Amino acid sequence: MSRLFEPFTQRGLTLRNRIVVSPMCQYSAVDGVVNDWHRVHLGARAIGGAGLVIAEASAIEARGRISPGDAGLYNDEQVAAWAPITRFIREAGAVPGIQLAHAGRKASTSQPWLGNARVAPEAGGWSDVIAPSAIAFSDTYPQPQAMTLAEIQALPKLFADAAKRAFEAGFELIELHAAHGYLLQEFLSPLSNQRGDEYGGSFDNRIRLLLETVAATRAAWPPHLPLWVRISATDWAETVGLDNGWEIEQSVELARRLKALDVDLIDVSTGGNLSRVKIPLAPGYQVPFSARIRRDVGIATGAVGLITEPRQAEALLQAEEADCVLMARELLRDPYWPYHAAKALGVEPSTPNQYLRAW
Ligand SMILES: Cc1cc2nc3c(=O)[nH]c(=O)nc-3n(C[C@H](O)[C@H](O)[C@H](O)COP(=O)(O)O)c2cc1C
Repeated sequence: MSRLFEPFTQRGLTLRNRIVVSPMCQYSAVDGVVNDWHRVHLGARAIGGAGLVIAEASAIEARGRISPGDAGLYNDEQVAAWAPITRFIREAGAVPGIQLAHAGRKASTSQPWLGNARVAPEAGGWSDVIAPSAIAFSDTYPQPQAMTLAEIQALPKLFADAAKRAFEAGFELIELHAAHGYLLQEFLSPLSNQRGDEYGGSFDNRIRLLLETVAATRAAWPPHLPLWVRISATDWAETVGLDNGWEIEQSVELARRLKALDVDLIDVSTGGNLSRVKIPLAPGYQVPFSARIRRDVGIATGAVGLITEPRQAEALLQAEEADCVLMARELLRDPYWPYHAAKALGVEPSTPNQYLRAW
């Protein structure tokens, strides 16, 4: 029995297998509105056989976009543009999910292929880039303003409103982006959060905004549908000689608190909050963080990062290091990876009728 191809049920939702298209920005929306690119890109991966297709980090407010080309879920036009995409994904047998995000101090930056640096307001960027503290990510990124207390307190409702729009647009799973150095993670790490109020300082204060955001979003999202949270389990601060970064022990405790708020799965990534760290890249390099959180907290986890081989994915699930695998770049290279994986593992692939003669 293949674990990779075993259905995965959470609440009232069942994924046909445990292969998840990891959220991937396409930097190709206009004013946050997605288009044919997203439809074909996401649709192809649903046809390709993944169980869940998570659409890219989509901003909950305009200034929370990473680049001017980021998708959004902060107005009705954006909802209308997503609707045919979610319908298509579902018709192809996959579940449509979406990642809700705020870029924080990494907002108003250019598409990676244009250099990934600050975009000035004259060039289509914006000046109100916000963060827990006025600390820039790097020399080439915007100088953020420290959020006011009122701005912080308004944030959970922005996420909750985006969740309602996600449901209206036809999404069946949402993931909150609290990883990779974007706003929610910036609050977690003492290296990016140096506030003196109740949202900074102690561990409880630094996780407060994320917990409030989860609670508000969970209340706005239908009870029969899952809510996931992506975290960076470590800043990798120790690789540049810093000993006060966010690390796995804090991630374990955070995951406990998220479990108590009815979060259904922790998607365990790492890094992104510090610009010069040295990440020890290797196949499955983030899997141990997933395994640790799953074991210590007893919550479902997703493993991500350099998972590319069917047997590798199958083995980590068999070893109970995660409940599903999220894959990004390998699924860009090969949207039909799930079919090839089924073949490699001796499993009958689930195929759209239109493609039956190919397999
Ligand atoms: C083009 C591209 C866009 C990405 N956009 C996002 C994103 O929107 N949200 C996110 O959490 N991670 C994003 N990531 C990270 C991936 O989801 C994934 O965590 C990372 O690429 C490691 O997985 P992989 O080795 O399978 O590629 C992106 C990665 C790529 C390659």
